Amino acid sequence: MQIIHPRLHGALDYTVAAALIAFPIVFDFGAESTAALLISLVAGVGLAVYSALTDYAAGVRRLVPWRVHLALDAVAALGLLAAPFAFGFDGLARAFYVAVAVSVLVVVALSQRNVEAASSTPRAAPHAALAALLASTLVAVCFAGSRGHAETSPDWKPRWTEAGELVLPEGYHRWVFLGSPLTPHALNGGNAPFPEYHNVYVHPEALDAFQRTGEWPEGTILLKELQLLRPAKFPDGSSLEVSGRGYFPQARNGIDISVKDSSRFPETDGWGFFNFGHHAPPYDETATEQPAASCAGCHMANAEDMVFMKFYRPILEAK
Ligand code: HEC
Repeated sequence: MQIIHPRLHGALDYTVAAALIAFPIVFDFGAESTAALLISLVAGVGLAVYSALTDYAAGVRRLVPWRVHLALDAVAALGLLAAPFAFGFDGLARAFYVAVAVSVLVVVALSQRNVEAASSTPRAAPHAALAALLASTLVAVCFAGSRGHAETSPDWKPRWTEAGELVLPEGYHRWVFLGSPLTPHALNGGNAPFPEYHNVYVHPEALDAFQRTGEWPEGTILLKELQLLRPAKFPDGSSLEVSGRGYFPQARNGIDISVKDSSRFPETDGWGFFNFGHHAPPYDETATEQPAASCAGCHMANAEDMVFMKFYRPILEAK
């Protein structure tokens, strides 16, 4: 059932090329996966180029035989189909890749194969098609550019996977350091659940908002990184350095996070709690919300608006 004439196929080629270029830009595939952005862009440009060079009505320079064009379509579609699995991206990007790949395979299957070389037939406005392709790409880039500006400022906000897991933030050692409670083994019967320093960080922009309004803004991340003590020399767990006897920090050993998001966590007073591993780095890249009984319950019962503010006030309120 070969019902698609090369003329129609040509129009579809440019449309798909425009979609391959515009869609990942507009929907910011790059935020999740650089491969998801780049492969689509390269496929879109490639498709536009070999279409412009195909010996059919929509070709500008008719160098590529029609049947070779069909073979290229099929190979490209199989590549697009495999890409999300090979490069491990999912969600909208994967759905888009699979949808385009399947559509292209169907169009290839339905396209007429045995047609006269188009070299002799009149051109079907290939320049107009190319102009439309360029225009749609331009519109997409402008759209993404303007949207990008609106969204770059809150990029300190938490990032979530499609499945609602929290993505471990990057660069948190450059955030503001709020303080470091310490509950060593020696003071807890040798069995402290968190015997390390509890180094707490917050993003400067969340801190700015807090200092303006007196409340943590939506999207605030409080990140607590655990840091082991230097090996004990004395029964109380302390050691000796030139500055004196005491507790001194050593290796990083785990991350806990609390996030303010009133719409995601209405049950636990607007905060969600996450653990990215209690061990040396590398930490988990994503984490699921901890049950209220493991974390939020204790914060609800004992903290001030879910955060143990009294330990951080001296720094929070410093001007
Ligand atoms: C038994 C009570 C209790 C439980 C359970 C608990 N926390 Fe906390 N958490 C505290 C206290 C007290 C502090 C501040 C003092 C400290 O760090 O020792 C704190 C501090 C924090 C901080 C720093 C910000 C703040 O509110 O002070 C984060 C982030 C945090 N906890 C996350 C978690 C996560 C994630 C869990 C579950 C895996 C958890 N907490 C379980 C009591 C608890």
